[in-house]
Amino acid sequence: MTDSANGGCNRPPVCDDRRMERTDDDDAADDAVRRAYDTVADAYADAFTSTEPELPVDLAMIEHFVSLLAEPRDVLDAGCGAGRMMPLLAGLGCRVQGVDLSPGMIQRAQRDHGQFPSRVAALTDLPLPDGVLSWYSTIHTPDGELPGVLTELRRVLRPGGHILLAFQSGKGVTDVSPAYRDRGHDVTLRRHNRSADRVAAELRTVGMEKVALLERAAASHERTAQAVVIALRPA
Ligand SMILES: C[S@@+](CC[C@H](N)C(=O)[O-])C[C@H]1O[C@@H](n2cnc3c(N)ncnc32)[C@H](O)[C@@H]1O
Repeated sequence: MTDSANGGCNRPPVCDDRRMERTDDDDAADDAVRRAYDTVADAYADAFTSTEPELPVDLAMIEHFVSLLAEPRDVLDAGCGAGRMMPLLAGLGCRVQGVDLSPGMIQRAQRDHGQFPSRVAALTDLPLPDGVLSWYSTIHTPDGELPGVLTELRRVLRPGGHILLAFQSGKGVTDVSPAYRDRGHDVTLRRHNRSADRVAAELRTVGMEKVALLERAAASHERTAQAVVIALRPA
């Protein structure tokens, strides 16, 4: 099959506008992440009120992403958590709304950043903007579920729209529960590490074109390398 014959995708199966079927395992994984973030919502929101952990180069990727968006620059902060990135996006000229799986995180987003609409929704069931910011919100998505999430992120974008994903760069799965348990939160939370190239390849399979990749080493306040990928939904 040629590229144009299948809508610009090199590989099937998900380069169309249908949602992927979800399994009971997918629902169970979402439930676990939702429970964990409901538990740590206040601690997370108090610890990270703005862009304290980000480096200038991370924020530069967000500025580049916003510069690529058509007016009116409707951006969905997909996995917005307690909403700390929404003022940044609004300050860059975006009309921003947030969604997150965790009602506890959304409660804090509405309390702390109530000027921006936010509501509970999963990365596999989203509304329709010029840009989607997924700032560390796919890090708990297992590899097998990533195509379904990326398909949905692409589906909800306008043609010509852009997506930005940020995540810890690396391989394998990291149990991040101890970091929370040390602070008294009884949660189970795993992080799925991936390289920027790997995520760009996954995006390609769902019909998104790579625009910019950042891979950077861990800064002194971090334990892991970080990555940012910007991709385009072709018009
Ligand atoms: C590490 S936090 C990042 C939150 C925010 N983007 C930030 O940078 O502060 C991960 C967030 O992604 C959300 N999340 C994880 N999986 C999700 C999914 N499948 N659908 C919607 N939100 C999800 C979690 O509830 C959590 O609020």
